[in-house]
Amino acid sequence: MSTSTFRTAVVRTPGGPDSIEIIDVPIVEPGPGEVRVAIAGASVNPVDLGVAAGVFHGMGLVNQPEWTGLGWDFAGTVVAAGPGVDLAVGTRVAGLVDGFDRDFGTYAEQLVVPAADVAVVPDGLDLVAAATVPLNGLAAAQIVDLRGDALTDGNRLLITGAAGAVGAYVAALAQDRGWQVTGLARPHDEEFIRGLGADFTSQAEPGWDAVADAAVLHEQALSLVRDGGAFVGVQPGRELASERGITVAVVVTHPDGPRLAGLLERTASGELPTRVHAVVPLDQVADAHRAMAKGGVRGRYVLTPKT
Ligand SMILES: NC(=O)c1ccc[n+]([C@@H]2O[C@H](COP(=O)([O-])OP(=O)(O)OC[C@H]3O[C@@H](n4cnc5c(N)ncnc54)[C@H](OP(=O)(O)O)[C@@H]3O)[C@@H](O)[C@H]2O)c1
Repeated sequence: MSTSTFRTAVVRTPGGPDSIEIIDVPIVEPGPGEVRVAIAGASVNPVDLGVAAGVFHGMGLVNQPEWTGLGWDFAGTVVAAGPGVDLAVGTRVAGLVDGFDRDFGTYAEQLVVPAADVAVVPDGLDLVAAATVPLNGLAAAQIVDLRGDALTDGNRLLITGAAGAVGAYVAALAQDRGWQVTGLARPHDEEFIRGLGADFTSQAEPGWDAVADAAVLHEQALSLVRDGGAFVGVQPGRELASERGITVAVVVTHPDGPRLAGLLERTASGELPTRVHAVVPLDQVADAHRAMAKGGVRGRYVLTPKT
């Protein structure tokens, strides 16, 4: 028998992991250009901890009357397609839901999203692994786009937090654009960083042509850029002012189905790393948030609504 509701994790009054609730909400049919996806996996990302803690409510970016949805990444199976969609029921897809001000998220059994925002998951890549790709793979691709090709007068790119989800993808993707990449990470991350084809440092000196600041070191990271170099940050709303002729940019990651398809293909082929830390039932979302908050986790917790 089909049910008319599905379970999803939300916060009403944000206050950290303890404020996360699982509620039942009505199933919605997809409209033109949309698909309804049965979610197999949704990654826990730092941004979700921020939403649950009320960081973005405090910045005035959330204005929901009842509750706020959690989760940006998902992978699952198409269960219904609206008019004008050429994805068949049963197709395995992954995608990204962006923006803070929404009453739904990917921490759920189901989701309705624009078909243009999803990509087909290639055979050979499981849905849990695929769920770790969209937000951070696209963030990295869009960071590399913001930075562009290596500068004519210097191609040394330092990535702070290169062992993290965003940083590792930037380390891999920036090499395509001619950058000579060095990853700043913890000493025990050296083997992983070198495995990405990057150089490694646990203590960077100033003088880099460009810095991508995935560890959110802010001013400390900006001070590592040479005069006239380039800096890309990851926290919109906390942009740094330019200094010493440095070009400063910040990424605002947006869905991009075709781009995601390429990232999933490269993950399936083993060219990009697959980084699942643990699979956790949706009911244990608060525990996953607490574990992430401690830091030091490599790879993602992936929530699964299946019990
Ligand atoms: N603007 C956007 O559209 C967008 C999109 C995606 C992500 N983001 C943001 O990007 C940031 C990174 O996300 P993520 O998912 O990659 O986080 P993550 O997986 O937790 O990675 C951060 C990495 O930085 C490392 N780190 C922190 N301080 C360091 C230091 N002083 N030296 C060396 N390494 C250090 C951490 O190591 P430890 O764990 O050992 O501390 C961790 O490996 C988050 O703030 C996230 O919200 C923004």
